[in-house]
Amino acid sequence: MLILTAIMSYLLGSVPFGLVIVRAMGLGDLRQIGSGNIGATNVLRTGNKPAALLTLICDVGKGAFAVIVARLTLGPDAALVAGAAAFLGHCYPLYLGFKGGKGVATFLGTTLALAWPIGLAVCATWIAVAAIFRISSLAALVAAALSPVYAAIFGMPALVVVMAAMAALIFLRHRANISRLLAGQEPRIGNK
Ligand code: G3P
Repeated sequence: MLILTAIMSYLLGSVPFGLVIVRAMGLGDLRQIGSGNIGATNVLRTGNKPAALLTLICDVGKGAFAVIVARLTLGPDAALVAGAAAFLGHCYPLYLGFKGGKGVATFLGTTLALAWPIGLAVCATWIAVAAIFRISSLAALVAAALSPVYAAIFGMPALVVVMAAMAALIFLRHRANISRLLAGQEPRIGNK
């Protein structure tokens, strides 16, 4: 059953909501717009705020949904596996030849559902950094980097490792963003 949960969660995480929503709204191919990423930040670059918000909700929702269903049916260990699988699905989706997104929103949904205090702390960090610098990738990197610290602060040692692993993958997926940040060329939120 655990394998089945992992596969189902991975397939759910693989659904590229940003790509689907942008295409359904007749806004083009998201992979040809802005950074080419399939996440809400890049959807915002189409100029369509409702599309970006819907993408954010769906990408957060798929991570949270996978965790909640697994916890209710199989328990907390399965919830961890489901969350990780949904996150991996977003980053390496079957439906897009394993070329997916950067995982931030799905990480957020997974984290909120796994341990809401950590999720809220990660959200608050993202919002604070984004409010100051108006750079989505920087906000995501700082929030991800602090997530294992929050797990330790809230006394959840098992989640320290899980958060650190997901944060590491988020950093890996943001290689191009990190290069642009270091070169001072990363666009502000909403800019092309
Ligand atoms: O959540 C993704 C964000 O951190 C970066 O997106 O499109 O600016 O590469 P983007």
